[in-house]
Amino acid sequence: MEYTTLGGTGLRVSRIGLGTWQFSEDWGVTSYERAKAIVEAAVESGINLFDTAFRYGQGLSERLLGRALRELGVGYDDIVVVTKIPGELLSRDDVFRAVDVSLRRLGFGAIHVLLAHWPPLWRHIPVCEYARAFERLVVMGKVHYIGLSDHPLELVEAFRSCLSRIDVDVLQYKLNLAEREAERDVLPYAEDLGASLMAWSPLAKGAIVRSVEPERLRELRDYRRLDPLYHPVNYSQLMKLYEEVKRVADKYGKTPAQVALNWLLMLSDVVIPIPGATRPEQVRENAGAAGWRMSWSDWRALDEASRRLRLTYVVQEE
Ligand SMILES: NC(=O)c1ccc[n+]([C@@H]2O[C@H](COP(=O)([O-])OP(=O)(O)OC[C@H]3O[C@@H](n4cnc5c(N)ncnc54)[C@H](OP(=O)(O)O)[C@@H]3O)[C@@H](O)[C@H]2O)c1
Repeated sequence: MEYTTLGGTGLRVSRIGLGTWQFSEDWGVTSYERAKAIVEAAVESGINLFDTAFRYGQGLSERLLGRALRELGVGYDDIVVVTKIPGELLSRDDVFRAVDVSLRRLGFGAIHVLLAHWPPLWRHIPVCEYARAFERLVVMGKVHYIGLSDHPLELVEAFRSCLSRIDVDVLQYKLNLAEREAERDVLPYAEDLGASLMAWSPLAKGAIVRSVEPERLRELRDYRRLDPLYHPVNYSQLMKLYEEVKRVADKYGKTPAQVALNWLLMLSDVVIPIPGATRPEQVRENAGAAGWRMSWSDWRALDEASRRLRLTYVVQEE
């Protein structure tokens, strides 16, 4: 495993993290034993960065992750767990209450890194209100470091302007070989700020690292059946990208997932992909995305293949 420093925190984290939204009904990992095996595979592979959220599985993810780390005997100082508060719970009082709940679920005395999961959408909560609540938690030692997920940069700027003594160390946005919007402005912003950019859905929810027969797409029972990537209009294009990913993978004796993640590692040293997994073997495989690099020409071939995509998010029937 390769390691890097998380933003300006001084914390050493693995270049590949583990996303644990999968520990929920959405993705189907609901048994403790299965979650523990996934976390164990991560720890054995040198992964020490874990991503969870207040919302995942209505708390199941935080609970299963915390319990697994405890029962595996992993020390608090040997890991970094990132959790997030949903946009609807970002009033000052709700931030404090939600952190208390997350701490109990995780079984921790303090949260390593706390993010606002997305901006408040259905409530009017000024950005300074949650920025100052986050800062108070750091000052009081209940949270060590903070960041933002899925916020437009104008809001990131506003959030940072409300802070007095600390700054944002982590940004978390969707970024994968097929969906590259964050590359336009968030990536240079993170590099300039010295923050880490945690890339979520780094495998495009699996859509760019394996091929599913078109007729089987509709059988997906999990979260993906709603994802525009899995709509035939997009999926047929993604299969062309997959063929290119597979070609590069075969050349290096790697797997498509390892190539898709390696491509992100090469994009910038601030990018930290956090792939989710429903099986321990996937975690081990994904950890093998680090420790090697494809050639510039192969990186470029994938870049060009992805630039040819014309994905649409308007996939409703007429
Ligand atoms: N901040 C945010 O708003 C936000 C949003 C979404 C996600 N996240 C975080 O980011 C993490 C990852 O994102 P994601 O779960 O949306 O997407 P992802 O990591 O791109 O895809 C995960 C899925 O890809 C498949 N997969 C994993 N490893 C594989 C391998 N080696 N070969 C083939 N397929 C593989 C698995 O599918 P199967 O289920 O079929 O096994 C797995 O469930 C989440 O767990 C969560 O922690 C954050």
